[in-house]
Amino acid sequence: MLASNLMAPRGLALLGCGWIARRHAAAARRLGVPLLAASRDAARAAAFAREFGAAAAFGSYEEATRDPRAAGAIVCTPHDRHLADARLALDAGLHVLVEKPIAPTLEEADHMIAAARSAGRILMVAENFHFMPAFRWVHALVARGGLGRLRELHLVARGFRQPSGWRLEPAAAGGGVLIDGGIHYVHNLRRWGGEVRRVFAARPPQTVRIGGEDAVDVLAELPDGVVGFLANSIGARGVSRVQWSTVTGSDGTCFVDNRGRWALVRGIAGTRGRLFLRDTRGHERMLSAFVDAMATGAAPDCDGSSGRRDLAVVLAVYRSICERRAVDVEC
Ligand SMILES: NC(=O)c1ccc[n+]([C@@H]2O[C@H](COP(=O)([O-])OP(=O)(O)OC[C@H]3O[C@@H](n4cnc5c(N)ncnc54)[C@H](OP(=O)(O)O)[C@@H]3O)[C@@H](O)[C@H]2O)c1
Repeated sequence: MLASNLMAPRGLALLGCGWIARRHAAAARRLGVPLLAASRDAARAAAFAREFGAAAAFGSYEEATRDPRAAGAIVCTPHDRHLADARLALDAGLHVLVEKPIAPTLEEADHMIAAARSAGRILMVAENFHFMPAFRWVHALVARGGLGRLRELHLVARGFRQPSGWRLEPAAAGGGVLIDGGIHYVHNLRRWGGEVRRVFAARPPQTVRIGGEDAVDVLAELPDGVVGFLANSIGARGVSRVQWSTVTGSDGTCFVDNRGRWALVRGIAGTRGRLFLRDTRGHERMLSAFVDAMATGAAPDCDGSSGRRDLAVVLAVYRSICERRAVDVEC
């Protein structure tokens, strides 16, 4: 790394050296963004920094956020830590890219949004589905009327996995699968179909040990009578690893691989497909968007209010499950 790069305040402090931090670190290395790796454990931070060629390693989040090389921070900690860790970074004058969900409650999300506003700093939620090339392609197709009048969205993401660590603690995770991996599909539902107005949800009997639901089925009312269906599970043994989301309009249907490797459209205009080979998970594009927003001060895609809207749908689903009735999504 060049000395001039290290001197410039354009580094990103990575708070927490767990699983998703590896994706951010790999993207930062490919983009040449200096990284300051921070862990509660100095040895872990040092090993992480060596592996990803980070500019520095810290045994405390505080130290990393106060380093003069840092311009922003990426919060990669458990859900109940997001507000405190984002505030730590904002108080140090840094811009913040916080992992999804923005927070486990709307109240915490509101505090974070207000804190970023009063600090005059960018707050962006790391919703990588928004930046995945295949999902952007679907969004563009729907937006230009390529499927005709929108009718239905079926988003199915089911598999089998036993989570561990903080995901077993209800207070740390704030829920089960939907607030964790499932919130990505909530984002796609909103992005492709418009704001979710009302949901009815149910959960099947639990099979996997986790702090919340291991599966959920959601029926959603979207604008103009469009219907959304979202099935999300980590308790479904034996299902195919290849899964896709389906968007149907009056003129045809689009199928898109949940991992963002391909998309297919069939309908009155015939059949066509697309393969996506580069940055399929959108991490480079997302980090570039954050770096650009830090440089320009312009509100990024997936700002705090977008993350809050995704969270509001998740929390309405949880209320619907508890109250066994359809629930309006809080604006
Ligand atoms: N976008 C995606 O596709 C995606 C995928 C997975 C996860 N995520 C999100 O990323 C965040 C982290 O998830 P993860 O899967 O990376 O979890 P993880 O592997 O457990 O990493 C979380 C890290 O947070 C730090 N931490 C701070 N306080 C902690 C505490 N009280 N208990 C446990 N860890 C604590 C730890 O890092 P140190 O020990 O180094 O301090 C830990 O390694 C969550 O918001 C999650 O929803 C996003």
